[in-house]
Amino acid sequence: MTFTPNLVLRRLYSDVSKKVRAQKYVLTKYFQGEPKKSDFKIVEEDLPELKDGEILAQAEYLSVDPYMRAYMIGYKLPTDMIGGQVAKVIDSRNKNIPVGAYITGPFGWRTHTVTSGDKIFSSSIDLPITVLPDLRPYPVSLALGILGMPGNTAYFGLKEICQPKEGETIVITGAAGAVGSHVGQIGKILGCRVIGFAGTDEKCNYLEKELGFDRAFNYKTCNVRAALKDGAPNRVDCYFDNVGGEISSTIMSHMNKYGRIAVCGSISSYNDTAPPKVTIVQPALVFKELKMEGFLVNRWNDRWQEGIDMNLKWLKEGKIKYQEKVYHGFENMVDALLGILRGENTGKAVVKV
Ligand SMILES: NC(=O)c1ccc[n+]([C@@H]2O[C@H](COP(=O)([O-])OP(=O)(O)OC[C@H]3O[C@@H](n4cnc5c(N)ncnc54)[C@H](OP(=O)(O)O)[C@@H]3O)[C@@H](O)[C@H]2O)c1
Repeated sequence: MTFTPNLVLRRLYSDVSKKVRAQKYVLTKYFQGEPKKSDFKIVEEDLPELKDGEILAQAEYLSVDPYMRAYMIGYKLPTDMIGGQVAKVIDSRNKNIPVGAYITGPFGWRTHTVTSGDKIFSSSIDLPITVLPDLRPYPVSLALGILGMPGNTAYFGLKEICQPKEGETIVITGAAGAVGSHVGQIGKILGCRVIGFAGTDEKCNYLEKELGFDRAFNYKTCNVRAALKDGAPNRVDCYFDNVGGEISSTIMSHMNKYGRIAVCGSISSYNDTAPPKVTIVQPALVFKELKMEGFLVNRWNDRWQEGIDMNLKWLKEGKIKYQEKVYHGFENMVDALLGILRGENTGKAVVKV
C-alpha cells in the first residue's frame, strides 16, 4: 500500500467526504428605501474539494448589521451579500483548526464556506477570522455580538475615541442596540454617568433597570433638549453617535468644552433616498472646542483579541449583560435585516441558520 499523507490528514481532521453545495444570497438590485426580498436571489453553488490548509465551515449564526444597508451601494452588482457569521468546522485539512471547532469570519450570507482559516478571506469587510475558545456556558452567537465586532466597536470606539474619564457624562444614541447597550455598560464600568436615547419605553426601562444606565429617554416621544437638561445636568463630555441626524446636532450643542464625539454610524438616514438636512454643528464644535472623529472598528484589527478578552472578562465577572434577538431560518435573512432597521431588536440581532 502506498502512503498518502493527504489521505491520512483527511482521516484525522475530516468527517465529510462528499461534495457540499452551499446556498448564498446574491444582491441583484441596489436598495431603494427599506431592503426587500426581491433585491436578492438565493443561489446554490458547489464548493471545491479542500486543499491542504483549508477548512469547510457550516454557518450556525449569521449576523445582520446596519452597515449592510449602508455599504452595498459601493459594490458592483450582482454581488455576494456581505456579513459576519459563526460557523462550525465540518471538514478540515488544517491541522490547527479541527473538525468541531467554531470560527467567526466575514463569510457573508451563505450556508457553507471553504477558507484557509487564516486572516485572508476575500471579503471587503476586513475583519479577522477567529477560532473561538470554548465559550460555554455562553452561546457561540456572542461572537457576533459582545464578543465580536459590535463588542469591539463599543470597546475601542469608547475608550480610544471618546477617552472618558471617571465622573464624566457620556451620551449614547442607538443606546439599546448591539453597540450602544455595550458602550453604556463600559461607561458605567469606567465610572461615568451614562445617558441613553432609544426608540421605545420598554428599551429605556431595560437600559435603566437591567443595564444600570443613569437615565434613558425615548427619542420618539421626548423633547431631546429637555431630556439632556434633565439627564445630563453637568452637560455632556462624550457623545457616542450611532444615529446621526438632528438628535446628534442637539446633543453636540449640549456638550462641555473639549468634549469628544465618536462617530460610529448614522442609522437614522440609512433608508433615506436623500440625505437629511440638519442643524449646523460647526458653532458647537468651534466654541466648545469639541473633537469629533469617525472610526471603523477594523482600525483595531491588530488589537482585536484585546477587546474580546476584556469583554469576556467583564461578562464572566457579571459586569456586562447582553440580550439577543434571534431570528430563525436562512430564508429569513432579509426580514431580520429589516427588523433591525425598524428597531425590533434590543441588543444584538442574529439569525440561527
Ligand atoms: N464604525 C464602525 O466600525 C461600526 C461598527 C458597528 C456598527 N456601527 C454603527 O453603529 C450603529 C449601531 O449598530 P448596531 O450594530 O449596534 O445596531 P443596533 O443598534 O443593534 O440596531 C439598529 C438600531 O438602530 C435604531 N434605529 C433604527 N432607525 C433609527 C432612526 N431613524 N433613528 C434612531 N435610531 C434608529 C433601532 O433602535 P431604536 O428602537 O432605538 O430606534 C435599531 O434597533 C449603526 O449606525 C452602525 O452602522 C459602526
